[in-house]
Amino acid sequence: MDAAHMGADLEKVLITEEEIQTRLGELAEQIWADYEGKDLLLVGVLKGAVVVMADLMRALPGTAPMDWMAISSYGSGTKSSGVVRILMDLRTDITDKHVLIVEDIIDSGLTLSWIKTNLESRSPASVEICTLLRKPEVAKVEIPVKYVGFDIPPEFVVGYGLDYDERYRNLRVVGTLAPHVYS
Ligand code: PRP
Repeated sequence: MDAAHMGADLEKVLITEEEIQTRLGELAEQIWADYEGKDLLLVGVLKGAVVVMADLMRALPGTAPMDWMAISSYGSGTKSSGVVRILMDLRTDITDKHVLIVEDIIDSGLTLSWIKTNLESRSPASVEICTLLRKPEVAKVEIPVKYVGFDIPPEFVVGYGLDYDERYRNLRVVGTLAPHVYS
């Protein structure tokens, strides 16, 4: 789905398809150089990371396996409570592996902080994070992120894997929604 297919639902495009692909290409080159000769495993977090994983892994100048986790916020029922429940765990034993978590966005950082701690308890060689988007102004925890595509302002964004009520994940760009969509 292109921006043009959004009609009046799209307020503005924040990051174009070309900008995303260029940046992912740069990150892929950097990741490949950093992990050369290492046992790298890409770990995606469903569902938002599906699109970035698909493009990032194909931009790598070599091959690496991937695995997936599905999680849900626990307790408050709202996202970003920081307490997480694993709905689907990795199939891979990550002992001695270099794990790179691939995410679409870091808002508060609470989800990733929990996942990173959880994975680190499984004796991997290392755990690092790659995210397409980050909102530094709303971070609630300091979390070291090795690879960041774009820092963005604290606006609600959709597209490129990110949804509003499960819609717009298939939009090729990252953008904001017009106010009428929410009402
Ligand atoms: C998004 C995103 C991260 C999390 C970031 O997932 O993929 O996992 O929120 O938020 P935080 O930094 O404030 O913890 P979401 O819960 O929207 O699920 P989804 O990937 O299925 O859309």
